[in-house]
Amino acid sequence: MKTRENRKHDHIKYALALADGPLENGFSQVHVVPNCLPELNLSQISLATALPGIPTLEHPIIINAMTGGAQEAEEINKQLAQVAKLTHSAMAVGSQYGSIKSNNYLESFTVVRRENPQGIVFANVSPLATVCEGQQAVDMLEAQALQVHLNVAQELAMEEGDRNFTGFLKSIEALANNISVPIIVKETGAGMAAEQINALLNVGVNIIDIGGAGGTNFMAIEAARFPTTNTELRTWGLPTAISLLEAARVMSHNQGIIATGGVRTGLEVLKALILGANAVGMAGNILKFLVDGGVESAAGELVKILHNLQDFMLLTGCKTVPQLTKVPVYFTGEVLAARQALIK
Ligand code: FNR
Repeated sequence: MKTRENRKHDHIKYALALADGPLENGFSQVHVVPNCLPELNLSQISLATALPGIPTLEHPIIINAMTGGAQEAEEINKQLAQVAKLTHSAMAVGSQYGSIKSNNYLESFTVVRRENPQGIVFANVSPLATVCEGQQAVDMLEAQALQVHLNVAQELAMEEGDRNFTGFLKSIEALANNISVPIIVKETGAGMAAEQINALLNVGVNIIDIGGAGGTNFMAIEAARFPTTNTELRTWGLPTAISLLEAARVMSHNQGIIATGGVRTGLEVLKALILGANAVGMAGNILKFLVDGGVESAAGELVKILHNLQDFMLLTGCKTVPQLTKVPVYFTGEVLAARQALIK
């Protein structure tokens, strides 16, 4: 049996070592129709975007939940917070649940607020957290939202993982209705379908991070840690683009959709926003930028993606993020098939 700290270390190690996939995020099968007469000046384009109950995000890329709760996590979170500050990005911390339970390594989380006092920061707990624990996670960071992560397939792939997944919806309902900030329910790589998104909306959740397949793959990470568990789980999940179609089917624009899962380029961010996302999350690629080149270099890579996004927004004739939902797209391959199946 491995300790929680070992596990956090392994997750970072294998997230860095493994490539995205093997499932693809689906965005290569989403095609944007260009506007050759955009009537726009590049300097007019605004990347600002809204999530309900959260201060306006200056741009739609969120540095998504990764770490905390271990010695080495403190330095990583410190540097991620520096990247977030330099790039004016919202940032989530990794799960605080274990540290709150054990009262250990709290500094590996609070360092994020210390480095970036004015930033938008999201706390993160398991759906098993009580209201009191959820509020503690928020207060520790003066967070503007609380992420609640769902990772059933990962737990099954993990030798020391949970096997009982009952009571989640009730627990999430309690969090959604009693925490002082909005909650964001997020998947971590298997995606979400419309039926479960609806169930979450019905218990008071307003913001969903679909966390689709195609990027960092925790079932593959656990398979690397435990080759004797169900390694077939590596191919489980709904690609991010398809999960986004599922969310857009049941959510309106004044609710919040975050698209995470293998979103890597400005063009993929654009496509996610066109399909209805208010924002996107990025995790594994930011960690790789950071470890490969340090804080300045990671910030530079993120800014490059934002500049590319601005170019693509101009090429669609859109000055603002909300306008992007009107941009025509067409689908091919399995995303087209999924789209047709969903319309039925
Ligand atoms: C994660 N992720 C994650 N999510 C979460 O809600 N709580 C957590 O503690 C963690 N831990 C974690 C560790 C590491 C090393 C990585 C890379 C990721 C999942 C993350 O927020 C995101 O949903 C997935 O990584 C998919 O996004 P990318 O990596 O494909 O952009």
